[in-house]
Amino acid sequence: MCGIVGGVTQRNVLGILVEGLKRLEYRGYDSAGVALVEPTGDLTIRKALGKVSELQKELADKPTRGNLGIAHTRWATHGKPSQANAHPHYSDHIAIVHNGIIENHEPLREQLSADGYEFITETDTEVIAHLLHKVYEQEQNLFSALQKTVAQLEGAYGLAVISSREPERIVAARSGSPLVIGIGIEENFLASDQMALRQVTDRFVYLEEGDMVDLRRETYSIVNRTGETVDRPITKIAEADEVVDKGHYRHFMQKEIFEQARVIGNTLQGRIGQHKVLEQVFGTSAADIFDQVQRVQIIACGTSYHSGLVCKYWLEDWAGIPCDIEVASEYRYRKVVVSPGTLFVTISQSGETADTLAALRLAKELNYLASLTICNVPNSSLARESDLVFMTQAGPEIGVASTKAFTTQLVSLQLLTIVLGRRHQLSAEREAELVEALHSLPSLCEEVLSLDPEVLEMSEHFSEKHHSLFLGRGPQYPVAMEGALKLKEISYIHAESYPAGELKHGPLALVDSDMPIVAVAPNNDLLEKLKSNLEEVQARGGMLFVFADKDAGFKNNGSTKVINLPHVPASLEPIIYTLPLQQLSYHVAVLKGTDVDQPRNLAKSVTVE
Ligand code: G6P
Repeated sequence: MCGIVGGVTQRNVLGILVEGLKRLEYRGYDSAGVALVEPTGDLTIRKALGKVSELQKELADKPTRGNLGIAHTRWATHGKPSQANAHPHYSDHIAIVHNGIIENHEPLREQLSADGYEFITETDTEVIAHLLHKVYEQEQNLFSALQKTVAQLEGAYGLAVISSREPERIVAARSGSPLVIGIGIEENFLASDQMALRQVTDRFVYLEEGDMVDLRRETYSIVNRTGETVDRPITKIAEADEVVDKGHYRHFMQKEIFEQARVIGNTLQGRIGQHKVLEQVFGTSAADIFDQVQRVQIIACGTSYHSGLVCKYWLEDWAGIPCDIEVASEYRYRKVVVSPGTLFVTISQSGETADTLAALRLAKELNYLASLTICNVPNSSLARESDLVFMTQAGPEIGVASTKAFTTQLVSLQLLTIVLGRRHQLSAEREAELVEALHSLPSLCEEVLSLDPEVLEMSEHFSEKHHSLFLGRGPQYPVAMEGALKLKEISYIHAESYPAGELKHGPLALVDSDMPIVAVAPNNDLLEKLKSNLEEVQARGGMLFVFADKDAGFKNNGSTKVINLPHVPASLEPIIYTLPLQQLSYHVAVLKGTDVDQPRNLAKSVTVE
């Protein structure tokens, strides 16, 4: 999704901006651009459709330099991906980059056209550039002009602006889309994600909703939504927090799949004793809140939503606590009835997903007991705005298709289920069993991940296919959903998931030899039911690909390919069975030659609704 980088420096800022854009590439984008005020005082803009490497070629053809600049990676929302629609956009001496969506861009565009402004792009952002230019004519000050401009905008934005008339400052505003200041030595920077600036600083100031900043080389000042000058804390980020390279792996996604044993260990570390979960890890006020929980409402998007679906099975089965789960984009636009004692839980890798964040803000106005987020990015908006925070410790996830974030979310949700459950129907004996199982999880993950060569072989059956069906029962149904999502995200093969028991209510009509059917088959009390469903598939000539417990009794034959997994405790099945499904989609995508880490049209962090 869109990314912003900016800097005001003594040295040439261009290289820092381009490096920043490269560090944001993982978020998904379709074009990139940069605007600089050159030493001559001229404003120059360079843009390119496609990757940052295309922008670098453009910059090599038409070099530029300067001490003040802003840069952007765009993920199209208004107007197709093109060089013209790429940011920065400009109006005479003003250049601007924007993350988010301006909802009232049409009336503003009409008004500005009537005023004589000419639009050369289809974007909502160009409207802001011209509006700012118009206001500047009165104000003659970039900061107050931006203040008066944003007052007229409806929607969500992270904005950074420069002007060749004021070459000493970047002005920026945050509302609904994150921005962070990076503090250097006699130079300052701005970005939508601190990751973009790790090469120049480890000190960051996170802007709050409604904040505006006047960023200069040696100083900066922040004004809040009511116009008061405010201090925001400086956060120092440790070096070890970030190791962003592929190592010996071909893709980030592959690396992240194989990291799962280790990062699951990190998520558990310090959170469980030998036989119990240490509930203080949910925060000092957690115990008081958890004592009052009667019900849980989970909200999330994408892969994070699937981990929430698994948690519903756990909360209701193990803890006896009713749980509702909904995708954020539905929840936030309907009337909800909140039962007393309901804990509001958001799940998010990035902590910045616009719909999930909006749902949290809405929930704060409703009668929830408290909010808790399960999140992977410290200092993200969800982490800062929730009452309780539980970090997943997956480390930076770069592949757009989420892998290690999902399994560490499942582990975290299991810990949450246990601490809530012990106040309800979960006995100390059961807790001890669950915790002992968790201790064995990292090594079980290693064992299952080592089946990679078998999964690779299986993937060859998929690369020429156009459709596929993923089946599971019980908590393995959301696992099948996640398996199908992975396959469609990165291999572009249409993949649908179904609870196996629903097969004969529709999808069975699709089954033929061209439609691979993937089944998740641990050896649990639903196995026999699942087997009958799979027989229905075979009877219709369908080809089965089964990830099964080694004792589940599946045999390889002409119409069934089986990968045997070790027997694992039922509480770990959703985590363990996810791993080979991730490997399957990875290998299919590699065989098909798609852009595994940055699949077309998708973004890592969806900061617009
Ligand atoms: C995007 C990503 C998915 C992710 C979803 C929710 O669609 O491509 O991988 O699951 O957003 O993101 P979150 O950061 O809230 O987990």
